[in-house]
Amino acid sequence: MKEQIKVMISETEVDNRISEMAAAIDKAYAGKAVHLIGILKGSVFFMCELAKKITVPVTMDFMSVSSYGDDTKSSGIVKLNKDLDESIEGKNVIVVEDILDSGRTLSYLIKLLNNRKPASMQVITLLDKPERRVIPVELYMTGFTIPDRFVVGYGLDCAQKYRNLPYIGVIEQ
Ligand code: XMP
Ligand code: MG
Repeated sequence: MKEQIKVMISETEVDNRISEMAAAIDKAYAGKAVHLIGILKGSVFFMCELAKKITVPVTMDFMSVSSYGDDTKSSGIVKLNKDLDESIEGKNVIVVEDILDSGRTLSYLIKLLNNRKPASMQVITLLDKPERRVIPVELYMTGFTIPDRFVVGYGLDCAQKYRNLPYIGVIEQ
C-alpha cells in the first residue's frame, strides 16, 4: 500500500517557531558570536533556516554520528562517523539536533564536546519526545514537544526518504 504523510506541524508553524528561536539566540548572545554544530543529516534543514534568521555572527560545522539500532530505535551505542573540521575551544557552541528521543545520542555528544573546552555549550533541538527519554539531557531550547510518534520531514527520514518535506509529518499506511 502507498504511504501517505499526515501533517503534524505545518511549514508555517515550523518557520514561525524557528524565527522565535533565532530571536531568542540573538538576545542571549548579543555582542558575541555563535558556533553552530549540526548533527548530520537530520539537523541540516533546521540549522540552515535557523542560521539565516540569526543576526549575531554565525560560524558552522557539522558532525555525523550513528546510533546502532533499527530504523526507529537507537541502541545506545554511538559511532562517530565524521568529526568536526575545526576546534571548538573558546567558542560559544550551540549543538543543533533534529530530534531528541532516548537522549543517548546527545548525551554522548555533550560529553565528547565538553572535553574540548568550548567557552559555552548549549543544545537545541527542533523536536522533543520526552516520553521516550532514557538518559536526561538538558536542553537550551526546543522547537516543539511532540508525542511518541515516528515523524518525518524537515530533515527527518524514514529509510532516507522524506527528508525534503517542508513540514513535519507522520507516515500513515
Ligand atoms: P536518541 O534516541 O539517541 O535518538 O535521542 C535521536 C536520534 O534518533 C533518530 N530519531 C528519529 N528520526 N523520526 C526520525 O526520522 C523520528 O521520529 C525519530 N526519533 C528519533 C534521529 O536520528 C535522532 O537524531
Ligand atoms: Mg539525528
